[in-house]
Amino acid sequence: MRERRTVDSSSSAADPSEGMGTLRLKREVGLISAVSLIAGTMIGSGIFMSPEWVLYHMGSPAGALIIWTACGLLVMFGALSYAELGTIIKESGGDYIYILRNFGSLPAFLFAYTSIIVVRPASMAGVSLSFAEYAVAPFYQGCSTPQVVVKCTAASCILLLTIINCLNVRLATAIMNIFTVAKLLVLLVIVIGGVVLLINGHTQSFQDAFQNTTAGIGPVGAAFYQGLWSYDGWNNLNFVTEELRKPEVNLPKAMMIAIPLVTCLYLLVNMSYFAALTPAELLSSGAVAISWGNKVLGSWVWVISLSVALSSFGSANGTFFSGGRVCYIASREGHMPDILSMAHVRCLMPSPALIFTSAIALIMIIPGNFSSIVNFFSFTAWLFYGTTIAGLLYLKIKKPELPRPYKVPIIIPIIVLIASVYLVLAPVIDQPQMKFLYVILFILSGIIVYFPLVHYKRHPQFLQRVTLHLQLLLEVAPTAKNTN
Ligand code: ARG
Repeated sequence: MRERRTVDSSSSAADPSEGMGTLRLKREVGLISAVSLIAGTMIGSGIFMSPEWVLYHMGSPAGALIIWTACGLLVMFGALSYAELGTIIKESGGDYIYILRNFGSLPAFLFAYTSIIVVRPASMAGVSLSFAEYAVAPFYQGCSTPQVVVKCTAASCILLLTIINCLNVRLATAIMNIFTVAKLLVLLVIVIGGVVLLINGHTQSFQDAFQNTTAGIGPVGAAFYQGLWSYDGWNNLNFVTEELRKPEVNLPKAMMIAIPLVTCLYLLVNMSYFAALTPAELLSSGAVAISWGNKVLGSWVWVISLSVALSSFGSANGTFFSGGRVCYIASREGHMPDILSMAHVRCLMPSPALIFTSAIALIMIIPGNFSSIVNFFSFTAWLFYGTTIAGLLYLKIKKPELPRPYKVPIIIPIIVLIASVYLVLAPVIDQPQMKFLYVILFILSGIIVYFPLVHYKRHPQFLQRVTLHLQLLLEVAPTAKNTN
């Protein structure tokens, strides 16, 4: 991850297209940090909360395990496709930059607009809320936790992460790596507990494992949404390609290590839940990892609450790291106010973008509740993943001559595209709800913002003065790309 950046005063002279920036990022993300950035964001709160929802929608343990496997395969296919995109288009910015280069300015703006104002802050808010739920739970044993306490704790988590990420890159990197190791250990404890239970004959959940399985389009789609939330974060590395060492090798490699690792752990953890709890117990548990801990660890159950809190905190850190990136890159491309593409002159951190992202996440916490955030997030996220993958198919068909250090068989992005169309349409067809319409309307409302402010560049007069004041206040300056 970003450990250090360098000031390179020759950058703007070397490539005038890169703008007038004089600061640029250094390639400091090695393979281990890359794997930790992916796995550390993917493993957050989902695996400790979603299993009961996947079971609820699928109706049977076997159905649930099939969904968990299918989600793992789907994100692996998605990641392999993104790896090819990341080696063709070597800029940071993930989906945003791929949509920009393949489909042009307006669609990319709509992505950035939705992502910066809703999707990223929503995922930050979702992960921080689950951090807060688990962090305060031990203080309210036997009674329900007051919402105001949960929300204030979630807000403190976001503020703390903002300070860490704005001031000290090494600390942010260290948090990422330490928390990733810690959560892998916790998942391993749950897996080992499950193996011991299974050896001792706790296999009742697996008898008639297919009984009551649902096969409807809607419930399967809803189960996927819950499962995919636990896997989300799989494309995080594509947001920092410019800081990755040897991206053409390390981007696909890190994905091929992190995603199968997380998939195997998730499957084993689910089997462990089923070994300790009957499907009925799981469905009524509220927080499945805690019910598991009560049964298996007894008075040591606090270890699980603490771990879920820490795991969510680490994932929020990764989400914040890449979330701030979208804002920063979009501003560098002229899609957001200039101030957001600047970096602190000494810390070399994109602090305005980070502060902006966290401010919106703080607002989201006020009305937000975890499960509505998850559904809303997955619908919008897969709409854009599908668009990005369509861009890869376009490149494969129309520009086969482009140099591709890493190539994925065309059938893989085709499968992901079909899956994302299904994921976007299934819940809408099954249970048409106004909120999906609102999402579409919100995305389209970006067009009204785009034409005056981005296309015709009609900026209000005072904006330049505000930018200047903020620049002095925050001590920030423009930056340049780092794609060679
Ligand atoms: N997969 C994470 C979890 O289970 C959520 C990650 C959200 N962040 C993101 N960048 N998509 O809590």
